[in-house]
Amino acid sequence: MPSLSAKSARLQESPIRKLAPHAGAAEARGLDVIYLNIGQPDMPTPPEMIAELHGLALSRLAYAPSEGLPRAREAWSAFFSSWDIDFAPEQILVTAGASEAITFTLAVLAGGGGEVLVFEPCYTNYLSFAAQADVTMVPIPLRVEDGYHFGSEERLLRRITPRTKAILLCNPSNPTGTVYTEQELDAVARVAAEHDLFVICDEVYREFVFDGGQVHSFTRYRELAERIVVVDSVSKRFNACGVRIGCMASRNREVIDVALRFCQARLSVPTAEQLMVVPMLEHGRTYSEGLRGEYQVRRDAVFAGLSAIPGVRPHRSEGSFYTMTRLPIASAEEFAVWLLRDFSHAGRTICLAPGPGFYVTPGAGVDEVRLAFMYSAPRLSEAMQVLGAAVEAYAGAAVVDR
Ligand SMILES: Cc1ncc(COP(=O)(O)O)c(C=O)c1O
Repeated sequence: MPSLSAKSARLQESPIRKLAPHAGAAEARGLDVIYLNIGQPDMPTPPEMIAELHGLALSRLAYAPSEGLPRAREAWSAFFSSWDIDFAPEQILVTAGASEAITFTLAVLAGGGGEVLVFEPCYTNYLSFAAQADVTMVPIPLRVEDGYHFGSEERLLRRITPRTKAILLCNPSNPTGTVYTEQELDAVARVAAEHDLFVICDEVYREFVFDGGQVHSFTRYRELAERIVVVDSVSKRFNACGVRIGCMASRNREVIDVALRFCQARLSVPTAEQLMVVPMLEHGRTYSEGLRGEYQVRRDAVFAGLSAIPGVRPHRSEGSFYTMTRLPIASAEEFAVWLLRDFSHAGRTICLAPGPGFYVTPGAGVDEVRLAFMYSAPRLSEAMQVLGAAVEAYAGAAVVDR
């Protein structure tokens, strides 16, 4: 049998989904499993969006234009202008979620051996997108002690090589919840301008900034407009991950023209889904801003719960709906499996996303986990109690094993 491609070997199993069989087995044993591992919003999709789907008068579902339906591109343009972000419909390509937008963007800007700088820990699928586009992700390590901030351009500059094509900036960040400061964004802008780089701005969590913090889209650097590609999505802000609609947008004509060829090769994005999100894109800013308060209450519950666990000094998430934290354990991978296989507290256990899957650097993040805020605050507080009991029991179990 011939061997499979070297490229396939670069695709890692999702660290978020690979615990599913253990979680399923725990549920089958009658345990109440609290899923902190996955960023799938628990709140309902807006009824307005579902009503729009039911009301669509479609008689023939032909291929949509590869760049997206005119109404959908106009709606995305209106959505961006509600954030003072200026993209004309023809500067926008509608994609199958931000996932496809990132894959195409990486391929267009750096495909075939280019390097892209990424802060780590990072959104785990970036690594698989990069593998598909034949791009090397070059990590800029961030530390929990710094709240996963990088401070100045120093760390970026150290990683630039003649092959560096772009910086990928996820702001607010999944997995850390970090919202980069103005000074940090200025630093990224300076590095991009001085070293002739693109900036890929993943702003799918743009609305979710806590504690009254300002949302700073990277598009504010208008002098860099030609270097910027924004990737965006309806998944999280409209509780609609299954709709699979996102976009990429750039004022760089060549980038959009070349990306369109990738769009043409996959023909089109589903018609009904493009249309069903139009009203929310046009008028949905207040809806998603309304979710922010709820996520902040949840963040507070998780932060308070983690702070009460001996040996844990949590980082206070500033946005998105995640946090990453270090636990007093040697291996988050083993701990996550142990939680599902060998532990319960008052009939409950938790499913965590182990840290290493969010790092490009091998061996990094071994004692870290990512937590998503996908339950109400009281349930998250319960989950933190389960985690506290587990950390204590695990230390005891480790001593017994020795
Ligand atoms: C930072 C980030 N970018 C992109 C995506 C992909 O989003 P979509 O559902 O639009 O493909 C996600 C999904 O979790 C994400 O967290």
